[in-house]
Amino acid sequence: MAPARPDPLGSALPLAAAPMAGGPTTPGLAAAVAAAGAFPFLAGGYRTPEALAADVAAVRRTGAAFGVNLFVPTPCPIGAAEYRRYARELQPEADRHGLDLSAVPLTEDDDSWRDKLDLLLADPVPVVSVTFGLPWPAELAALRRAGSRVLVTVTTVGEARAATEAGADALVVQGSDAGGHSGTHDPLRPVTPAPTAELTRAVLAATRLPVVATGGVDGPRAVAALLAAGASAVAVGTLLLRTDESGAAPPHKDALADPAFPGTVVTRAFTGRPARALRNRFTDRHDASAPAGYPAVHHLTRDLRRAAAAAGDPHGLHLWAGTGHRSARTGPARAVVEGLAAGL
Ligand SMILES: Cc1cc2nc3c(=O)[nH]c(=O)nc-3n(C[C@H](O)[C@H](O)[C@H](O)COP(=O)(O)O)c2cc1C
Repeated sequence: MAPARPDPLGSALPLAAAPMAGGPTTPGLAAAVAAAGAFPFLAGGYRTPEALAADVAAVRRTGAAFGVNLFVPTPCPIGAAEYRRYARELQPEADRHGLDLSAVPLTEDDDSWRDKLDLLLADPVPVVSVTFGLPWPAELAALRRAGSRVLVTVTTVGEARAATEAGADALVVQGSDAGGHSGTHDPLRPVTPAPTAELTRAVLAATRLPVVATGGVDGPRAVAALLAAGASAVAVGTLLLRTDESGAAPPHKDALADPAFPGTVVTRAFTGRPARALRNRFTDRHDASAPAGYPAVHHLTRDLRRAAAAAGDPHGLHLWAGTGHRSARTGPARAVVEGLAAGL
């Protein structure tokens, strides 16, 4: 048997709260999972550098080790014509909330990547994880020099090899059952089925780095299976979405347990990047025609999704969910961690 690889997180339990940008991850959620013995990730994506700095300060006050996750910027692959076509297609959704999508300019942004890196270099945290791609080698090296362990999210063996060569300390292996955005480094590649345990084994066979496995966990048996596959730790997202400390929108929390939602789909409809969500009116109507236009499509639909959430319409927003969503329970996050740790 191959020797065990070092645990890149070092928490009491081999469990982590996956980063969930857009509201669900809160400093309170991070503190609660840390108090229960799991490793918390803060979600730096979509946050302003100032808001992220405040989140970091809040979690640091707990004394727990933690990680910060960032989105690696990627160029928007679509042009104005394709963007405008999709804006026209979505206008009936916007009409429900009195919004005019023709007024939303095609926005390219890097999610303040450089400023967030500067923040983490000036005020280092124990772990930095990234998704959507690879940082430049110099950026990765700078984070490591500052004292952070750098984890790169990968969805294929090829991405795992590239992240290893780029100097990552460890890999977050995300299977295709995961809720939310795929971390794929190539958003034009269709997300093909890749069960997390299989992908973990394949990545471990191809690289020397330790792995945090994530995607589709629905209970302690799934955790045990991923650890048996060789993962050093297992990160869960969806199972924490309905907890007291989660900042997910109430219609999102409710839909995860609502039998009226028939299952999950991987769709570009909301942001232009493939993401697993509960199937709803929006995915049924727009999945097939949505362009691969992240981040422009994210900006196009943002106010529309916010308005749907405020109006309590679960069919008008992105209900990110992994395949284990039926096992997501309400109550304190501590109870989720304890339930997953049963039998470890
Ligand atoms: C609501 C939501 C938001 C997410 N946001 C991020 C994010 O900001 N960064 C990231 O690397 N992964 C993000 N993910 C993916 C998770 O980190 C993780 O890969 C996924 O939740 C694991 O699958 P599971 O949801 O089946 O547990 C998100 C997932 C969800 C459900």
